[in-house]
Amino acid sequence: PALALLLLLAGLLAAASPPAPPRFNVSLDAAPELRWLPVLRHYDPDLVRAAVAQVIGGSVPKWVHALIGKVVMELARYLPQPFTGEIRGMCDFLNLSLADCLLVNLAYESSAFCTSIVAQDSRGHIYHGRNLDYPFGNTLRKLIVDVQFLKNGQVAFTGTTFVGYVGLWTGQSPYKFTISGDERDKGWWWENMIAALFQRHSPISWLIRTTLSESENFEEAVYKLAKTPLIADVYYIVGGTSPQEGVVITRNRGGPADIWPLDPLNGAWFRVETNYDHWKPAPKRDDRRTPAIKALNATGQANLSLDALFQVLSVVPVCNNYTIYTTVMSAANPDKYMTRIRNPS
Ligand SMILES: *[C@@H]1O[C@H](CO)[C@@H](O)[C@H](O)[C@H]1NC(C)=O
Ligand SMILES: *[C@@H]1O[C@H](CO)[C@@H](O)[C@H](O)[C@H]1NC(C)=O
Ligand SMILES: *[C@@H]1O[C@H](CO)[C@@H](O)[C@H](O)[C@H]1NC(C)=O
Ligand SMILES: *[C@@H]1O[C@H](CO)[C@@H](O)[C@H](O)[C@H]1NC(C)=O
Ligand SMILES: *[C@@H]1O[C@H](CO)[C@@H](O)[C@H](O)[C@H]1NC(C)=O
Repeated sequence: PALALLLLLAGLLAAASPPAPPRFNVSLDAAPELRWLPVLRHYDPDLVRAAVAQVIGGSVPKWVHALIGKVVMELARYLPQPFTGEIRGMCDFLNLSLADCLLVNLAYESSAFCTSIVAQDSRGHIYHGRNLDYPFGNTLRKLIVDVQFLKNGQVAFTGTTFVGYVGLWTGQSPYKFTISGDERDKGWWWENMIAALFQRHSPISWLIRTTLSESENFEEAVYKLAKTPLIADVYYIVGGTSPQEGVVITRNRGGPADIWPLDPLNGAWFRVETNYDHWKPAPKRDDRRTPAIKALNATGQANLSLDALFQVLSVVPVCNNYTIYTTVMSAANPDKYMTRIRNPS
């Protein structure tokens, strides 16, 4: 009977442990228009089209939708490669309008609520974790993927995204650095968004991907993420490979509003960023910051690990009904990159 009970418990635990998303290779050596098609073939086109409709219906006002429809051809000429080519290729494959595909790739820009943590253990190892929360997540959960981007057949960087979405909110450049982005809510995200695109400011998640692709080390990544003009405000959280390489960058569209590094020599061995400026109190109606700090304090610096960080990111309300995935990563140990889907239905 004891064995039976153990087996039953093991079964329950297995059932309760959150599933991993599929992992795909996307080759940057292939043309932008073609490189995502091998991934798309694993998915029901109706499901992807339903997700596009859900995101646009849920977060984009009708007039913005109409306006993008009017300027899309011109806009596409201003947007950088390879992003536009990738979007165009998937869009043609799915028989969707370019306006809808572009819009969905821009629409999440300010709709994601998140928690990110960067921390250093007592031996100087850096860990980075994030929850991504999104209110229209039911269809999106089925489209979460871990993607390995290949250059010359080698993994150049890894990221977590949704099929059809070419930017990254979470990613890792192996042996160099890790990045996550959290929304910095300033209200009406579409105000000035189109104007900023025409000034060649970068969408937030595209800059994460460009940085993963191009920056050679932690310092270069932080500089690029802090300085490049963006179409909206955001928090970028960056982890490196050496002691003290961890930072929260609070971004305005034009440049950095604040740089908040780890300070382990003075006891600050972690930084928690949700969706509020760290120098102001978190609002009572949405305080995910205090529970995360409590859980980190309870873990202790000596006991920090990727597993421990995952447990911290599992504490309610850090993990909540809107949370769609959790990723934990450590650039010095790139094979440990791990994503789990939350609240799968
Ligand atoms: C796109 O439309 C073409 C022509 O109507 C059709 O043959 C094709 O199967 C469609 N593709 C998808 C993915 O729905
Ligand atoms: C992805 O690419 C890596 C590096 O080339 C390779 O080792 C791995 O087998 C590939 N995975 C798949 C599923 O093709
Ligand atoms: C976490 O620990 C620090 C250092 O001991 C303490 O100052 C802080 O109040 C604690 N925070 C919470 C939310 O428990
Ligand atoms: C860390 O783990 C050790 C055992 O591995 C335990 O004795 C200690 O209480 C833990 N520290 C904290 C702060 O929980
Ligand atoms: C989260 O979902 C559960 C189950 O559907 C529900 O019981 C609970 O009230 C929800 N919590 C919040 C804060 O909405």
